[in-house]
Order: sequence, then structure tokens, then C-alpha cells
Amino acid sequence: MIKFQNVIKTYEGNVRAIDNVSFNVEDGEFVILLGPSGCGKTTLLRMVNQLETITDGDIILNDKSVRHSNIIEMRRNIGYVIQSNGLFPNMTIEDNVLAVPNLIGWDRAKQQKRYSYLMDLIGLNPDEYRKRYPHELSGGQQQRIGVARALAADPPVMLMDEPFGALDPIIRTRLQEEFLQIQREVKKTILFVSHDIDEAVKMGDRIALFRDGKIMQYDRPAEILSHPNNDFVSEFIGNDRMLKSMSLYTVKDLSNVCSLQPNITSEDIKIIKENTSLRTAISLLLNQEADQLVIEDENGNNMGSLTFDLINEFLRKEVRGSKAYE
Ligand SMILES: Nc1ncnc2c1ncn2[C@@H]1O[C@H](COP(=O)(O)OP(=O)(O)OP(=O)(O)O)[C@@H](O)[C@H]1O
Ligand SMILES: [Mg+2]
Repeated sequence: MIKFQNVIKTYEGNVRAIDNVSFNVEDGEFVILLGPSGCGKTTLLRMVNQLETITDGDIILNDKSVRHSNIIEMRRNIGYVIQSNGLFPNMTIEDNVLAVPNLIGWDRAKQQKRYSYLMDLIGLNPDEYRKRYPHELSGGQQQRIGVARALAADPPVMLMDEPFGALDPIIRTRLQEEFLQIQREVKKTILFVSHDIDEAVKMGDRIALFRDGKIMQYDRPAEILSHPNNDFVSEFIGNDRMLKSMSLYTVKDLSNVCSLQPNITSEDIKIIKENTSLRTAISLLLNQEADQLVIEDENGNNMGSLTFDLINEFLRKEVRGSKAYE
């Protein structure tokens, strides 16, 4: 668990970057630090692994103040992905990924096994990339290597500073989905910086929304979308919050409440899995000619089809009528 207790950070020149911030992050929780540029997200992250000093207050990591922890040992247990991917340019991909295991003296066989595992996890062929250098990879591939490197020694805590920040929307979406998949497998305590509400809603168990170094709201995504604490939060999440909240539901959730339609056979109908988010389903329906999507379960069995009318029915029954949207 990470406890932020009345944390204050004042830089030289009296810039108060973090202003009396308190909140807790549970073990295994994925928490998004969200807010506009300059609100203090990077500063807060860097105080956790003591790349920045804490001016006042404290951060407690596993019952111990980070101020009094052995910095080397603590950083070994914290994976850190910096805002730009921060790979070592003159080291091969393999050496980049294995930087920490190498540093802490893992034997060769264990390192090799770990390298292959991580490359598979991030969807890059271990042998194909092994001897390449960072500049020989695309931006998205480099970002993925940055994530693999931070995961390498299997740290229980991850600090990720806009790890998908500089990517185009398509690669970004793919990496987000890959990373959610990774998190389901490895269950770490994660602080993940973003300034994108969509990314936050999609990825976070909880969101801490900041403004000028202060927490405006700390809550589950559904709560933030449905019950914004103040005008700043409402404005930040924007006026299409109903559409945004659709990324919290999957087609499967809908099929538990509404009956899917029988399929109309046609050649150019798109097939999607039942664990696809409703937000993705809506954009597919809006962007393709067909007015239905065929739904498959995990085993590839046809479950019926999804139409726009069904989504409206689900919204009426489940979302608008629910407690969250009173
Ligand atoms: N080394 C520093 N010295 C003085 N002021 C700093 C320093 N680093 C950051 N600041 C200031 O502290 C505030 C918070 O900066 P920080 O980098 O934490 O913001 P951020 O939320 O990560 O922004 P972005 O989304 O642009 O990365 C800003 O006003 C910034 O100018
Ligand atoms: Mg930053």
C-alpha cells in the first residue's frame, strides 16, 4: 500500500507543485494520476521513488517512509517508466530490457527466460529484436520496451509517467489493451500518469484528478463520471460523459440485461468478442455501413448480434436508471 500523507512539494523560487495531498493506494490497485499539464503529476510520482525530495508531509510505502528507505533497495522494487521512454540508446534491446536483472545479478538462464517472457508479453518477437538498438524500433515499439524494462525484475510497484503519451491513437489503444491484459496477469500496484480522461476511465481502478497541485477528486471512474465533485471536474470530463461511461461496460454486460438479436446473414458484417467494450462497439457501429455487429463468446460461439437499438435499450435500463446516474 502507498499512503500519501499531507504531501507538499515546493520547488526553488517558491513554486508549490504539490499542495497538501493525501490519498491511499491499495496493493494491486491501478490508480491514474490525471490532470492538465503542470498540475504536478510527474512531481508526485518522482517523490515516491525519491527522485524528488518531499518538502513536507510523507509518503509511506509498505509501512515505511520513503524518506527513510534505502534508496537503491527501494528503487529496485519500483518499476519506473519515464515520460519519454528513456531507453539507453547505446544498449541493445535485450540489454535494455535486462538492465535491472543484470544489475542485481540474476544468472544468465533466469535472465534469458525473463527476456523471452517479457517480449512475448508485449507482443514483440524476442529473437528478432534482441540485437537491435532503440533507434531501430518504431516509437510504439520503444514505448513497449520501456514497459518491459520496468517490469523486468518483477517489481511489486510500478510508476508509469504517460507511458503511451506520444503515440498515435491506434497504437495507443492497442498498447492500453495490451497493458490491461498484462495487469490482469501480473496484478501490480500501479501509479499511472495521464492527462487523458478516456485513458483514465478505461485503465484505472481509481482516478486522482489534480489541479494546481491539489486533488480535486479521488474516486472510481464511474463515480467521477456520474458524480463530479465540482465544476472543474465536470469541465475536465467534458459533456459527453455518457459516451465515456460506455467504456466501463462490455457487450457481455449488455447481453446480461438485453437479449441479443438473431443474426442477419450478410457478407460484410463485423464479428466482435463479447468482452469488447460498448464504447468500441458504438464506434464500430457508427463507422461501418452495417447496422449490426455479430457477437462471439470466448470460444468463438455465435451469441447473436448487437444493434444500436439494443444499446439504447441498455442505456435506458441499466445506465440512466442506475444509482450512478440519478
Ligand atoms: N525542477 C523544477 N524546478 C522548478 N519548478 C518545477 C520543476 N519541475 C517542475 N516544476 C513546476 O512544478 C509544476 C508541476 O510540474 P510537473 O512536471 O509535476 O507537472 P505535470 O503535471 O507532470 O505536467 P505535464 O502533464 O506537462 O507533464 C509546474 O508548475 C512546473 O513548472
Ligand atoms: Mg509530467
